[in-house]
Amino acid sequence: MYKKKPFFIVFEGVEGCGKSFQSKKLFSKLKKKNIDTILTREPGGTKSSELIRNLILKDYFSKDNKEKFDKYTDTLLYLAARNEHIKNKILPALLKKKVVICDRFIDSTIAYQVYGKKVDIDFINNIHKKILRNVKPNIVFVLKVSTKISKKRLIKRKIKNRYDNFSQTFYTKAQNSFIKIAKNKKNYVILDSSSNDNVLENIIFKIIKKKLHI
Ligand code: TMP
Repeated sequence: MYKKKPFFIVFEGVEGCGKSFQSKKLFSKLKKKNIDTILTREPGGTKSSELIRNLILKDYFSKDNKEKFDKYTDTLLYLAARNEHIKNKILPALLKKKVVICDRFIDSTIAYQVYGKKVDIDFINNIHKKILRNVKPNIVFVLKVSTKISKKRLIKRKIKNRYDNFSQTFYTKAQNSFIKIAKNKKNYVILDSSSNDNVLENIIFKIIKKKLHI
């Protein structure tokens, strides 16, 4: 018998790694088992956070380079979206002993803003101290993908995203950062998502079933 408990699952990785696809698959598998689960994403997840997400993405596609957000403004927007998201969605769900699946979380900020854009990590850590409210992922899946496959997946996409047209070196750097963050941490699982999504889906579900005792 499944005993309800708060459980926070995060998917991380670069664009085109298949994390949104895998989050959705896991969500529907848990729902089929009648596990009380929510699926959410960052930046976004609540009405106000989605507004902030639109602001961030709109700025990225703005043609006027002089008017683009400074990297600290950009970082603050991600953190503002996170604050709203944790306070109004993630924490309430965990308090109700739900399973929360989140497409991206704090490691995206470390990979993209700190390693990628060289934003001061102390600045981010200090804000996190206030806004995380002790919310920590129980498990983080880092999906690794080859450049060839990620490119192929990105080309197929209709809606472009912030880093969809960034250079390959940026992706490689971001992916290496995710792997570096995950290395030697027991609540992180690095999985290769280049080959077969079906196989990967089952691997992920098996791990979660074991964790939730279902
Ligand atoms: P998505 O591609 O998963 O929808 O995410 C939107 C973009 O936001 C993606 O390019 C990664 C970026 N991002 C950051 O740069 N920092 C963050 O903290 C988060 C959550 C996302």
